[in-house]
Amino acid sequence: MLPTTMKAVLVTEPGGSDKLKIAEVECPKPARGEVLIRVAAAGVNRPDVLQRLGLYPPPAGACPRLGLEVSGEVVATGGGIGASLQGKNVMALVNGGGYSEYVVAPAGQCMRVPSGLGMVEAASLPETYLTVWQNLFMKGGLQAGHHVLIHGGSSGIGCAAIQLAKMHGAFVHVTVGDQEKANFCKKLGADFVYLYKQEDWSQAVLNNTGGQGAEVILDMVAGEYVDKNLSCAKPGAKVIVIALLGGRFVTLDAAKLMAKQIVLTGTTLRPQTSEFKAQLSRVVESVLEKGFSSKQLQSVVQAQFDLERVADAHDLMESGKGMGKIVLKVSE
Ligand SMILES: NC(=O)c1ccc[n+]([C@@H]2O[C@H](COP(=O)([O-])OP(=O)(O)OC[C@H]3O[C@@H](n4cnc5c(N)ncnc54)[C@H](OP(=O)(O)O)[C@@H]3O)[C@@H](O)[C@H]2O)c1
Repeated sequence: MLPTTMKAVLVTEPGGSDKLKIAEVECPKPARGEVLIRVAAAGVNRPDVLQRLGLYPPPAGACPRLGLEVSGEVVATGGGIGASLQGKNVMALVNGGGYSEYVVAPAGQCMRVPSGLGMVEAASLPETYLTVWQNLFMKGGLQAGHHVLIHGGSSGIGCAAIQLAKMHGAFVHVTVGDQEKANFCKKLGADFVYLYKQEDWSQAVLNNTGGQGAEVILDMVAGEYVDKNLSCAKPGAKVIVIALLGGRFVTLDAAKLMAKQIVLTGTTLRPQTSEFKAQLSRVVESVLEKGFSSKQLQSVVQAQFDLERVADAHDLMESGKGMGKIVLKVSE
Protein backbone atom coordinates (compact mmCIF):
# COMPACT_ATOMS: atom_id res chain seq x y z
CA MET A 1 0.00 0.00 0.00
CA LEU A 2 1.57 3.29 -1.08
CA PRO A 3 1.33 6.37 1.12
CA THR A 4 -0.72 9.37 -0.02
CA THR A 5 1.73 11.88 1.45
CA MET A 6 5.50 11.95 1.91
CA LYS A 7 8.36 14.08 3.22
CA ALA A 8 10.10 16.30 0.68
CA VAL A 9 12.49 19.23 0.70
CA LEU A 10 10.94 22.54 -0.34
CA VAL A 11 12.54 25.90 -1.08
CA THR A 12 10.37 28.43 0.76
CA GLU A 13 11.76 31.34 -1.29
CA PRO A 14 14.95 31.82 -3.35
CA GLY A 15 17.93 32.35 -1.06
CA GLY A 16 20.37 30.71 1.33
CA SER A 17 20.28 27.20 2.72
CA ASP A 18 18.01 28.49 5.53
CA LYS A 19 15.27 28.60 2.89
CA LEU A 20 15.25 24.80 2.69
CA LYS A 21 12.60 23.05 4.74
CA ILE A 22 11.10 19.59 4.99
CA ALA A 23 7.35 19.44 4.47
CA GLU A 24 4.65 16.84 4.00
CA VAL A 25 3.51 16.87 0.36
CA GLU A 26 1.38 14.68 -1.87
CA CYS A 27 3.10 11.48 -2.98
CA PRO A 28 3.48 11.46 -6.79
CA LYS A 29 1.87 8.79 -8.95
CA PRO A 30 3.66 7.29 -11.94
CA ALA A 31 2.13 8.21 -15.30
CA ARG A 32 2.35 5.99 -18.38
CA GLY A 33 6.00 5.17 -19.04
CA GLU A 34 7.08 6.15 -15.52
CA VAL A 35 7.99 4.33 -12.32
CA LEU A 36 7.63 5.37 -8.70
CA ILE A 37 10.87 5.01 -6.72
CA ARG A 38 11.02 4.75 -2.93
CA VAL A 39 14.15 6.86 -2.50
CA ALA A 40 17.07 5.39 -0.57
CA ALA A 41 19.48 8.23 -1.31
CA ALA A 42 19.64 11.37 -3.44
CA GLY A 43 22.72 12.99 -4.96
CA VAL A 44 23.40 16.69 -4.36
CA ASN A 45 24.58 18.68 -7.35
CA ARG A 46 25.64 22.28 -7.92
CA PRO A 47 22.56 22.88 -10.13
CA ASP A 48 20.42 22.20 -7.01
CA VAL A 49 22.20 25.04 -5.22
CA LEU A 50 21.71 27.32 -8.23
CA GLN A 51 18.01 26.38 -8.33
CA ARG A 52 17.66 27.11 -4.60
CA LEU A 53 19.19 30.56 -5.22
CA GLY A 54 16.63 31.17 -7.98
CA LEU A 55 19.31 31.15 -10.69
CA TYR A 56 18.37 27.90 -12.46
CA PRO A 57 14.62 27.53 -12.95
CA PRO A 58 13.44 24.00 -13.76
CA PRO A 59 12.38 23.45 -17.36
CA ALA A 60 8.67 23.42 -18.24
CA GLY A 61 6.96 20.21 -17.18
CA ALA A 62 9.65 19.21 -14.66
CA CYS A 63 8.93 18.76 -10.95
CA PRO A 64 9.80 22.13 -9.36
CA ARG A 65 11.34 20.54 -6.25
CA LEU A 66 15.10 19.92 -5.85
CA GLY A 67 16.97 16.73 -6.70
CA LEU A 68 18.19 15.40 -10.05
CA GLU A 69 19.38 11.88 -9.18
CA VAL A 70 18.36 9.11 -6.79
CA SER A 71 18.78 5.48 -5.91
CA GLY A 72 15.99 3.35 -4.52
CA GLU A 73 13.43 0.63 -5.06
CA VAL A 74 10.81 0.70 -7.80
CA VAL A 75 7.54 0.33 -5.84
CA ALA A 76 4.98 1.04 -8.57
CA THR A 77 4.88 1.37 -12.33
CA GLY A 78 2.67 3.32 -14.71
CA GLY A 79 1.27 1.75 -17.84
CA GLY A 80 3.20 0.69 -20.88
CA ILE A 81 6.46 -0.56 -19.39
CA GLY A 82 5.93 -4.17 -18.36
CA ALA A 83 6.72 -5.56 -14.93
CA SER A 84 10.47 -6.07 -15.18
CA LEU A 85 11.38 -3.03 -13.04
CA GLN A 86 8.87 -3.67 -10.24
CA GLY A 87 10.68 -4.34 -6.93
CA LYS A 88 14.15 -3.67 -8.43
CA ASN A 89 16.79 -1.47 -6.90
CA VAL A 90 17.78 1.18 -9.45
CA MET A 91 19.57 4.48 -9.78
CA ALA A 92 17.97 7.14 -11.94
CA LEU A 93 18.24 10.59 -13.38
CA VAL A 94 14.96 12.26 -12.38
CA ASN A 95 13.26 15.37 -13.70
CA GLY A 96 13.37 17.13 -10.32
CA GLY A 97 12.00 16.10 -6.92
CA GLY A 98 14.77 13.70 -5.88
CA TYR A 99 15.10 15.19 -2.37
CA SER A 100 12.03 13.30 -1.13
CA GLU A 101 10.80 9.93 0.09
CA TYR A 102 9.27 9.02 -3.28
CA VAL A 103 9.91 10.31 -6.78
CA VAL A 104 8.70 9.42 -10.25
CA ALA A 105 11.17 8.76 -13.07
CA PRO A 106 10.70 7.89 -16.73
CA ALA A 107 11.37 4.13 -16.88
CA GLY A 108 14.09 4.63 -19.50
CA GLN A 109 16.09 6.79 -17.09
CA CYS A 110 16.42 3.97 -14.54
CA MET A 111 19.77 2.20 -14.55
CA ARG A 112 21.04 -0.99 -12.90
CA VAL A 113 23.12 -0.35 -9.80
CA PRO A 114 26.72 -1.38 -10.66
CA SER A 115 27.84 -4.60 -8.95
CA GLY A 116 29.25 -4.08 -5.48
CA LEU A 117 27.93 -0.55 -4.99
CA GLY A 118 25.61 0.49 -2.15
CA MET A 119 22.63 2.77 -2.58
CA VAL A 120 24.46 5.88 -1.33
CA GLU A 121 27.20 5.44 -3.92
CA ALA A 122 24.64 4.63 -6.62
CA ALA A 123 22.74 7.88 -5.95
CA SER A 124 25.91 9.84 -6.69
CA LEU A 125 26.32 8.58 -10.27
CA PRO A 126 23.54 9.42 -12.77
CA GLU A 127 23.77 13.22 -13.10
CA THR A 128 27.53 13.47 -13.36
CA TYR A 129 28.19 10.38 -15.48
CA LEU A 130 25.41 11.10 -17.96
CA THR A 131 26.61 14.71 -18.28
CA VAL A 132 30.22 13.72 -18.73
CA TRP A 133 29.48 10.95 -21.22
CA GLN A 134 27.36 13.27 -23.32
CA ASN A 135 30.09 15.89 -23.40
CA LEU A 136 33.43 14.08 -23.49
CA PHE A 137 32.44 11.25 -25.80
CA MET A 138 29.32 12.22 -27.77
CA LYS A 139 30.11 15.92 -28.29
CA GLY A 140 33.86 15.82 -27.78
CA GLY A 141 34.70 12.56 -29.57
CA LEU A 142 37.34 11.78 -26.95
CA GLN A 143 39.56 8.84 -27.91
CA ALA A 144 42.48 6.89 -26.49
CA GLY A 145 45.68 8.90 -26.79
CA HIS A 146 43.90 12.27 -26.83
CA HIS A 147 44.71 14.98 -24.30
CA VAL A 148 41.66 16.29 -22.43
CA LEU A 149 41.58 19.38 -20.20
CA ILE A 150 38.96 19.31 -17.44
CA HIS A 151 38.32 22.41 -15.33
CA GLY A 152 37.05 21.96 -11.76
CA GLY A 153 38.85 18.61 -11.51
CA SER A 154 37.76 17.87 -7.94
CA SER A 155 34.06 18.64 -8.54
CA GLY A 156 31.49 15.89 -8.88
CA ILE A 157 31.59 16.40 -12.64
CA GLY A 158 35.39 16.60 -12.64
CA CYS A 159 35.80 13.29 -10.76
CA ALA A 160 33.56 11.47 -13.25
CA ALA A 161 35.37 13.10 -16.17
CA ILE A 162 38.86 12.20 -14.91
CA GLN A 163 37.89 8.59 -14.34
CA LEU A 164 35.99 8.06 -17.60
CA ALA A 165 38.76 9.70 -19.62
CA LYS A 166 41.45 7.52 -17.99
CA MET A 167 39.28 4.41 -18.44
CA HIS A 168 39.23 5.20 -22.16
CA GLY A 169 42.97 5.80 -22.50
CA ALA A 170 43.16 9.60 -22.66
CA PHE A 171 45.80 11.86 -21.04
CA VAL A 172 44.05 13.95 -18.42
CA HIS A 173 44.88 17.56 -17.51
CA VAL A 174 42.84 19.27 -14.77
CA THR A 175 42.67 22.66 -13.07
CA VAL A 176 41.99 22.97 -9.33
CA GLY A 177 41.93 25.67 -6.66
CA ASP A 178 44.32 24.22 -4.07
CA GLN A 179 46.94 21.56 -3.35
CA GLU A 180 44.57 19.25 -1.46
CA LYS A 181 42.32 19.12 -4.51
CA ALA A 182 45.39 18.60 -6.70
CA ASN A 183 46.43 15.56 -4.64
CA PHE A 184 42.87 14.22 -4.78
CA CYS A 185 42.75 14.49 -8.58
CA LYS A 186 46.17 12.84 -8.94
CA LYS A 187 44.90 9.89 -6.88
CA LEU A 188 41.89 9.62 -9.19
CA GLY A 189 44.26 9.31 -12.15
CA ALA A 190 44.82 12.82 -13.51
CA ASP A 191 48.17 13.00 -15.35
CA PHE A 192 48.69 16.77 -15.11
CA VAL A 193 47.19 19.00 -12.41
CA TYR A 194 47.37 22.81 -12.54
CA LEU A 195 46.75 25.14 -9.60
CA TYR A 196 44.88 27.87 -11.46
CA LYS A 197 45.47 30.50 -8.77
CA GLN A 198 49.23 30.09 -9.09
CA GLU A 199 50.10 29.14 -12.64
CA ASP A 200 49.22 29.84 -16.26
CA TRP A 201 47.36 26.59 -16.95
CA SER A 202 46.88 27.38 -20.61
CA GLN A 203 50.64 27.65 -21.20
CA ALA A 204 51.22 24.56 -19.04
CA VAL A 205 48.85 22.49 -21.21
CA LEU A 206 50.82 23.56 -24.29
CA ASN A 207 54.11 22.71 -22.56
CA ASN A 208 52.84 19.25 -21.58
CA THR A 209 51.51 18.42 -25.04
CA GLY A 210 54.66 19.32 -26.96
CA GLY A 211 53.05 22.60 -28.06
CA GLN A 212 50.09 20.80 -29.67
CA GLY A 213 47.29 21.48 -27.15
CA ALA A 214 44.32 19.42 -25.99
CA GLU A 215 41.87 17.70 -28.32
CA VAL A 216 38.93 18.14 -25.91
CA ILE A 217 38.29 20.76 -23.21
CA LEU A 218 35.42 20.44 -20.70
CA ASP A 219 34.77 23.86 -19.19
CA MET A 220 32.48 24.61 -16.22
CA VAL A 221 33.98 28.07 -15.66
CA ALA A 222 33.46 30.04 -18.95
CA GLY A 223 34.15 33.80 -18.43
CA GLU A 224 37.85 34.47 -18.84
CA TYR A 225 38.58 30.77 -19.35
CA VAL A 226 37.09 30.59 -22.82
CA ASP A 227 39.80 32.53 -24.64
CA LYS A 228 42.51 30.73 -22.64
CA ASN A 229 40.92 27.44 -23.67
CA LEU A 230 41.26 28.48 -27.32
CA SER A 231 44.97 29.19 -26.73
CA CYS A 232 45.66 25.66 -25.49
CA ALA A 233 43.26 23.79 -27.80
CA LYS A 234 44.73 21.66 -30.55
CA PRO A 235 43.67 22.51 -34.13
CA GLY A 236 40.28 20.85 -34.66
CA ALA A 237 39.64 20.62 -30.90
CA LYS A 238 36.24 20.61 -29.26
CA VAL A 239 35.77 23.13 -26.43
CA ILE A 240 32.57 22.39 -24.51
CA VAL A 241 31.06 24.78 -21.96
CA ILE A 242 28.81 23.12 -19.38
CA ALA A 243 28.55 25.82 -16.70
CA LEU A 244 29.25 29.48 -16.05
CA LEU A 245 30.94 29.54 -12.64
CA GLY A 246 33.35 32.26 -13.84
CA GLY A 247 30.76 34.35 -15.70
CA ARG A 248 28.47 34.03 -18.71
CA PHE A 249 29.85 36.84 -20.89
CA VAL A 250 33.04 36.21 -22.76
CA THR A 251 35.61 38.13 -24.78
CA LEU A 252 37.52 35.93 -27.15
CA ASP A 253 39.97 36.19 -30.00
CA ALA A 254 37.91 34.80 -32.88
CA ALA A 255 41.05 34.53 -34.98
CA LYS A 256 42.07 31.52 -32.85
CA LEU A 257 38.74 29.84 -33.66
CA MET A 258 39.32 30.36 -37.37
CA ALA A 259 43.01 29.55 -37.53
CA LYS A 260 42.66 26.37 -35.49
CA GLN A 261 39.15 25.44 -36.71
CA ILE A 262 38.08 24.87 -33.12
CA VAL A 263 34.50 23.82 -32.38
CA LEU A 264 33.22 25.89 -29.44
CA THR A 265 29.96 24.48 -28.12
CA GLY A 266 27.96 23.85 -24.94
CA THR A 267 25.29 21.59 -23.54
CA THR A 268 22.87 21.24 -20.70
CA LEU A 269 21.38 17.87 -19.81
CA ARG A 270 18.21 18.83 -17.97
CA PRO A 271 16.02 20.07 -20.85
CA GLN A 272 16.92 17.16 -23.16
CA THR A 273 14.09 14.81 -24.12
CA SER A 274 13.26 11.65 -22.17
CA GLU A 275 14.12 9.65 -25.30
CA PHE A 276 17.61 11.15 -25.41
CA LYS A 277 18.15 10.62 -21.68
CA ALA A 278 16.96 7.01 -21.99
CA GLN A 279 19.40 6.28 -24.83
CA LEU A 280 22.21 7.93 -22.88
CA SER A 281 21.26 5.92 -19.79
CA ARG A 282 21.59 2.62 -21.70
CA VAL A 283 25.14 3.47 -22.79
CA VAL A 284 26.25 4.83 -19.41
CA GLU A 285 24.66 1.91 -17.53
CA SER A 286 26.95 -0.55 -19.30
CA VAL A 287 30.02 1.71 -19.02
CA LEU A 288 29.44 2.00 -15.26
CA GLU A 289 28.97 -1.75 -14.80
CA LYS A 290 32.21 -2.41 -16.68
CA GLY A 291 34.09 0.41 -14.93
CA PHE A 292 33.10 -0.47 -11.37
CA SER A 293 33.47 -4.24 -11.79
CA SER A 294 36.98 -3.80 -13.24
CA LYS A 295 37.80 -1.18 -10.56
CA GLN A 296 38.67 1.39 -13.23
CA LEU A 297 35.98 3.56 -11.64
CA GLN A 298 35.59 4.27 -7.95
CA SER A 299 32.94 5.99 -5.88
CA VAL A 300 33.84 9.53 -4.78
CA VAL A 301 31.18 10.14 -2.12
CA GLN A 302 32.82 12.65 0.22
CA ALA A 303 29.95 13.20 2.64
CA GLN A 304 26.50 11.86 3.40
CA PHE A 305 23.77 13.62 5.36
CA ASP A 306 20.32 12.54 6.51
CA LEU A 307 17.56 14.32 4.56
CA GLU A 308 16.83 16.50 7.61
CA ARG A 309 20.36 17.94 7.26
CA VAL A 310 19.90 19.07 3.66
CA ALA A 311 20.99 22.62 4.60
CA ASP A 312 24.34 21.27 5.86
CA ALA A 313 24.80 19.42 2.59
CA HIS A 314 24.20 22.63 0.60
CA ASP A 315 26.50 24.61 2.93
CA LEU A 316 29.30 22.10 2.34
CA MET A 317 28.85 22.37 -1.43
CA GLU A 318 28.86 26.17 -1.30
CA SER A 319 31.91 26.26 0.99
CA GLY A 320 34.11 25.38 -1.98
CA LYS A 321 35.79 22.70 0.17
CA GLY A 322 33.98 19.89 -1.57
CA MET A 323 35.86 17.12 -3.30
CA GLY A 324 33.74 14.52 -5.04
CA LYS A 325 30.08 13.99 -4.30
CA ILE A 326 27.65 14.79 -1.49
CA VAL A 327 24.64 12.50 -0.91
CA LEU A 328 21.44 12.74 1.16
CA LYS A 329 20.31 9.54 2.90
CA VAL A 330 16.55 9.27 2.73
CA SER A 331 15.66 5.75 3.90
CA GLU A 332 17.38 2.49 4.88
N1 LIG B 1 25.53 21.40 -18.49
C1 LIG B 1 25.09 20.37 -17.79
O1 LIG B 1 24.34 19.54 -18.29
C2 LIG B 1 25.50 20.23 -16.35
C3 LIG B 1 25.13 19.09 -15.63
C4 LIG B 1 25.57 18.95 -14.31
C5 LIG B 1 26.34 19.97 -13.74
N2 LIG B 1 26.63 21.08 -14.47
C6 LIG B 1 27.45 22.16 -13.88
O2 LIG B 1 28.75 21.68 -13.68
C7 LIG B 1 29.33 22.38 -12.57
C8 LIG B 1 29.92 21.36 -11.61
O3 LIG B 1 28.85 20.69 -10.95
P1 LIG B 1 29.16 19.80 -9.68
O4 LIG B 1 27.86 19.34 -9.15
O5 LIG B 1 30.21 18.84 -10.04
O6 LIG B 1 29.74 20.96 -8.72
P2 LIG B 1 30.70 20.94 -7.47
O7 LIG B 1 31.04 19.55 -7.06
O8 LIG B 1 30.12 21.88 -6.49
O9 LIG B 1 32.04 21.61 -8.04
C9 LIG B 1 32.15 22.91 -8.50
C10 LIG B 1 33.65 23.15 -8.81
O10 LIG B 1 33.83 24.36 -9.50
C11 LIG B 1 35.06 24.94 -9.11
N3 LIG B 1 34.79 26.37 -9.13
C12 LIG B 1 33.85 27.04 -8.48
N4 LIG B 1 33.87 28.35 -8.81
C13 LIG B 1 34.84 28.49 -9.66
C14 LIG B 1 35.36 29.61 -10.34
N5 LIG B 1 34.86 30.82 -10.21
N6 LIG B 1 36.41 29.40 -11.10
C15 LIG B 1 36.91 28.17 -11.24
N7 LIG B 1 36.44 27.08 -10.66
C16 LIG B 1 35.42 27.23 -9.85
C17 LIG B 1 35.40 24.42 -7.73
O11 LIG B 1 36.70 23.92 -7.67
P3 LIG B 1 37.99 24.79 -7.30
O12 LIG B 1 38.01 25.02 -5.82
O13 LIG B 1 39.08 23.93 -7.76
O14 LIG B 1 37.82 26.06 -8.03
C18 LIG B 1 34.52 23.17 -7.60
O15 LIG B 1 35.29 21.98 -7.71
C19 LIG B 1 28.22 23.22 -11.93
O16 LIG B 1 28.36 24.57 -12.30
C20 LIG B 1 26.95 22.63 -12.53
O17 LIG B 1 25.92 23.57 -12.61
C21 LIG B 1 26.26 21.22 -15.75
